[in-house]
Amino acid sequence: MTDSIAQLTIIQPDDWHIHLRDDQALATTVAHAATSFNRVICMPNLVPPVKTTTDAQAYRTRIMQHLQACDIPAERKATFDPRMTLYMTDHTSAQDIEEAVKSGIVQAVKLYPAGATTNSADGVTNINALADVFGAMEKYQLPLLLHGEVTQDHVDIFDREKRFLDEVLVQIIAKFPALKIVLEHITTSDAADFVLAQGNNIAATITPQHMMLNRNHMLLGGIKPHLYCLPILKRESHQKVLLDVATSGSPKFFLGTDSAPHPTDKKETACGCAGCYSSPTALALYATAFDSVGKIDKLEGFTSRFGAQFYGLPLNTDTVTLLKSPMQIPTSYPYFDGSTLTPLMAGETLPWSIKA
Ligand code: NCD
Ligand code: ZN
Repeated sequence: MTDSIAQLTIIQPDDWHIHLRDDQALATTVAHAATSFNRVICMPNLVPPVKTTTDAQAYRTRIMQHLQACDIPAERKATFDPRMTLYMTDHTSAQDIEEAVKSGIVQAVKLYPAGATTNSADGVTNINALADVFGAMEKYQLPLLLHGEVTQDHVDIFDREKRFLDEVLVQIIAKFPALKIVLEHITTSDAADFVLAQGNNIAATITPQHMMLNRNHMLLGGIKPHLYCLPILKRESHQKVLLDVATSGSPKFFLGTDSAPHPTDKKETACGCAGCYSSPTALALYATAFDSVGKIDKLEGFTSRFGAQFYGLPLNTDTVTLLKSPMQIPTSYPYFDGSTLTPLMAGETLPWSIKA
């Protein structure tokens, strides 16, 4: 049946986890994001981070200024709606949460354990000291978005997500059982099982790379810096479970690209940055992944329904059409100051594309 579907029209998707960066980067990242997505949850790990509602408002204004200057169709500009997040630090207060809720533009708060990933130096060092903040978020039902990895030096990089579930997340859930939580960019079957075992207030995003690729793709036959992201790609058995739950129709799993631009020369170097850039081709990547297991009929829930439902937002009213017609992923995109971005699976041909 799948093979007979030549095209598929779905509700316009949202991206519940994206890094747009700031200033000149926005000229590229906003145009790419707005081409495919309506709402995007903008991660706050700028330098310096988006810590307050005032910071978030100013960041949203910069994004909207770049949107107006983008060379994309007017109807895409009209519906693009960047939703802001605050970056939780050891100094975040319950009052910061109240201000965020009142603002109407802050959709969630992101917790990076200090040192876990790109620009996380100002992240949280002691979760136990933030009980008032979690309490306020629980009261107002403002979601907590988690980079779910422990950061102790001695913990193996491939074990960091599972250790976070066992040592940190269970404690947060025990103390704040009604807190809405999104475990971002899950990479293991442990995380998928964990989320499935919880109530409806706990969900997860899954990136294209974690459902399509595993650590063999990154490391066999030569190291591929453009597949290096955090949390790091795991073994194939985990990849298969992620694809399985994403395509299962469970509303607990929804689209979050974690598209995270770093200039090509910062990836192809002795100490390369973590992050995969997927925003412009993410929909074709997800369609390819779903179709690979005969589940293209489950795509719309994952891309366009379950995230909005979790966040308590209306479904988008416009649509996008995907075609089963091959598309080559560009080898690079121009970025700012003469740099380039090398996208995820650059130069590869996908069976699915987006109808212009
Ligand atoms: C992200 C980035 O570059 O900002 N990198 C990544 O590898 N995913 C940060 C993050 O989401 O961990
Ligand atoms: Zn991210």
